[in-house]
Parts: sequence; C-alpha cells; structure tokens
Amino acid sequence: MQSEIERLHEEAVEKLKTVQDPAALEQWRVAYLGRSSPLMQVFEKLSQLPKEERPVIGRLANQVKQHLEAALEVKAESMRQASLRQALEAERLDVTLPGRPVTVGRLHPTTQTLRRIYHIFAEMGFQVYLSRDVETDLYNFQLLNFPPHHPARDMQDSYYIAGEHEKDNPVLLRTHTSPGQIHAMREFAAADPQNPPPIRIILPGMCYRYEQVSARAETQFTQVEGLAVGKHITFTDLKGTLSDFARRMFGERVRARFRAAHFPFTEPSAEMDIECFVCGGEGCPVCKRTGWLEILGCGMVHPIVLKNGGYDPSVYSGYAFGMGPERVAMLRYRIEDIRYFWANDVRFLEQF
Ligand code: PHE
Repeated sequence: MQSEIERLHEEAVEKLKTVQDPAALEQWRVAYLGRSSPLMQVFEKLSQLPKEERPVIGRLANQVKQHLEAALEVKAESMRQASLRQALEAERLDVTLPGRPVTVGRLHPTTQTLRRIYHIFAEMGFQVYLSRDVETDLYNFQLLNFPPHHPARDMQDSYYIAGEHEKDNPVLLRTHTSPGQIHAMREFAAADPQNPPPIRIILPGMCYRYEQVSARAETQFTQVEGLAVGKHITFTDLKGTLSDFARRMFGERVRARFRAAHFPFTEPSAEMDIECFVCGGEGCPVCKRTGWLEILGCGMVHPIVLKNGGYDPSVYSGYAFGMGPERVAMLRYRIEDIRYFWANDVRFLEQF
C-alpha cells in the first residue's frame, strides 16, 4: 500500500511536468486528486486496513495529497503568469512611439481672405449682399452701360449658356460681380421708390471668364464688389474708404495710389495700387520693379447705372469697387501662380 502511494506520487509529479494548458491541468487534477482518483480511494479504504497500518498510510496519503495540491497550485499560477506574459507580448503598446498626427481641416486661402475682407468692411458699416452666379446679358453688361457689341466687352470673355435664350439677352455665367450692383439697387429702391434708402454693401462671389489659363488668369475666380450709394457721396469717400481698407489689409504704413482707368459702369474710373510691401516701393520682382501692386478697380457709379438701379443720378451718387481675393492672397502670401487655388493640392493648401 505504502509503495503504491509513493508510486502514485511519483507518477503524478512526472505527469504534472508534461502538462501544458489549463484543460490538461484539469484532467490531471481529476486523475490524481479527484474524488475517484486512486489516492482518494485510499482514504475510503482506510477503515478496511489493519488498525496499526491506518495512521501510517493515512498520514502518508495526506502528505501526498497536500503535496500534490500545492504542486497543482504552483503549476496553475505559473500557467497564469505565462498567459499574462503572452498577452502582454502580443498586445504590446509602445507608448514611446510618437502619436499619429491628427489632420485638422482648415479654410481655403480664398475663404480666409474673403473673411478678412468681410471683417474689414463690416467694421466700416458694409453688409454682405449675395447675388447670383448665372446672369443675363442685360444685367452682366447692358444695364452696366456696356451696349451690345461695345468693345469694352472684350475685356471679359464670357461663357454663354447654349440653349433657349433671347437673342439679345443670352444667359451667361457672370464675368464679374458688378451685375449684383443692379440687383441690389433695384431691391433697395423697391422698398421706397420715391426716396430710395442709402446702400453700403459688399458683394462677394465666384466669377467666370473664358480665359487662357495661365499663372495670372483662371477661368473661375472670386471677386468682392463694393457699392455705396447715397446723397453727397464723393470720390473722396471712395479714396478714403479704400485707402483705409488697404492699411487694414496690408499694414498700417502701406500707401495707396489711384491711377485713371476705364470701366463703362463708373465715371470717373480708377485702379488702385498699393505700395509694394515686399520692397517698400524700391522695386523688386514681386512688383515688377515698379514699386506698386495693382489690387482693384473702382470709380464713381455711372449716372446711367444709378438710373438703371432706380436711383435718380441728380439726387444720388455713389462709388463702386471690385477686387479679386485670390489676387489679394497672392500678394499677401507671395503666391506665384493663381492655378494653385483650384488645383486642390494639399501641399499648397496645408500652408495656410
Ligand atoms: N467689375 C470690374 C472688373 O471685373 C471691377 C470694377 C468693379 C471696377 C466696380 C469698377 C467698379 O474688372
């Protein structure tokens, strides 16, 4: 009996060494420590043994049982440790790795520039007025004092829309934001035709021209039109407002100059240049050695245009201007090619 228990003990210890996984460990437990295992049977059979053998066998069986239980616990613990180690290894997280960069979206440089322009004019009391992208010849040209066949139309090669349209009034994509002047004046004047209210608005939006695409010209671009109509508005107001705009947009010390120009819808007309802020007027490649950068067209609203808008030119006067935010952004950020604005290249867009 005694040697049988010792043999069982040895066998159990040997077997335990070969156990690899929790299922095998459970099998081992059932086989050597389970209720019907040979070792447990020994306890059952104790009473059948001769009286003097009972304490010896009993104690031995008990020692073996305790030893096997302890061995089981050690094995189970080492298996738990091993599986934890394995999990840590497999799911390892290297916290010293740099994190994945989060790509934050941002506004397009044109939108950013537009918002700066809105902000500056808002501070001067101008409201934003939105007008349509699809126009008629009437609004885009005729009411702005471009008669049919007038050569001034050549400045603005147009996208006409094929299809049904009146012969003399084809539909086209607006070539500038100026037709919005007529829409706005008519809308404001309609409120009180005998005594139309004063107007102080900017009109932003996309314009379209049938251009040969180049570093300086795109087929679509943004413009911001400005319009102020009221009694006693003079060229001085135009100069003061736009010079102040230039200072707020390009810097406190920037100087502006006005050169005579021609637009059919303004009289007199001018183009505004600002002193080159790259070289301070000395002459450099950005200003093509002139010391000046052209930023907008402007002038006093032509009497015919005021009349077409419902404002009596003998009572009202006004000024208008038009600028290209892409051009403004090109100057501010020294962008060399206008095509970047629509190329949708993130390497360009990320820089703003
Ligand atoms: N509409 C003109 C253009 O696109 C700019 C302009 C607007 C000039 C308003 C004078 C007054 O070139």
